[in-house]
Amino acid sequence: MEVVIGQSAEELALYAASMVRDVVRSKDHPVLGLATGSSPLPLYTELIRAHRDEGVTFAHVSAVTLDEYVGLPPDHPQSYHEVIRQEFTRHVDIDDARVFSPDGDPARAMDAGERYEKVLTELGGVDVQILGIGTDGHIAFNEPGSSLQSRTRIKTLTDQTRSDNARFFGSLDEVPIHALTQGLGTILDARRVALMATGQAKAQAIAAMVEGPMSASCPASVLQWHPHVTVCVDEAAASLLEHAGYYRTSFERKPSWQKW
Ligand code: GLP
Repeated sequence: MEVVIGQSAEELALYAASMVRDVVRSKDHPVLGLATGSSPLPLYTELIRAHRDEGVTFAHVSAVTLDEYVGLPPDHPQSYHEVIRQEFTRHVDIDDARVFSPDGDPARAMDAGERYEKVLTELGGVDVQILGIGTDGHIAFNEPGSSLQSRTRIKTLTDQTRSDNARFFGSLDEVPIHALTQGLGTILDARRVALMATGQAKAQAIAAMVEGPMSASCPASVLQWHPHVTVCVDEAAASLLEHAGYYRTSFERKPSWQKW
């Protein structure tokens, strides 16, 4: 894994944005994998700025989200379909019809995973997948105990995840219990991965992911198996990494770091 320790969320966002820019510029039909949560927000802000101020276009881009709550209609303010629209896609020139999410309607949820996998295959796979990480080491909604080869399916959310996400809802009771999520095997299929994490609350999960054993107890640790992952963290999220000095050096030497 490439570990980049930045001074601020904004600096990390610039770094991740340069990865997205490379893909958007170099491919005819790029596919972006988008994540919800607060960690990627500075990246989306930077991409929106680049679109507005520098004319960076997303008109040829398709986007796929990682996961969706089961039981929230797509236009519910906390459905991930709507969150991604509000936080990013409605501010750029990406076609709404090219933004795909798992179908969280309970009436169709049983085969929604399989249908979503087909969408991903038809698009030709994800070029760059943005990720956050949960405090329990989950990525997307792959909670501890998830199969390292899993594909898109329904998962039951842990109490920890529901209480972490309760801040977006009126109360804990309103947080859905189930979600559809890309599997760990699905995420590993992305050609490139950029994981963003800031703050002390993520330090333990980041240490387990980067330096711990690969294990279903920390689902994000499966990314050790991926050939092209960049972990973008601030000092606080990196604070429990044993080899932090080494990673920082590699960041300072990185010749491709630039604002775009
Ligand atoms: C949710 C999402 C994850 C995200 C996580 C962390 O559980 N399903 O994709 O990584 O939240 O969110 P945050 O970045 O707000 O800490």
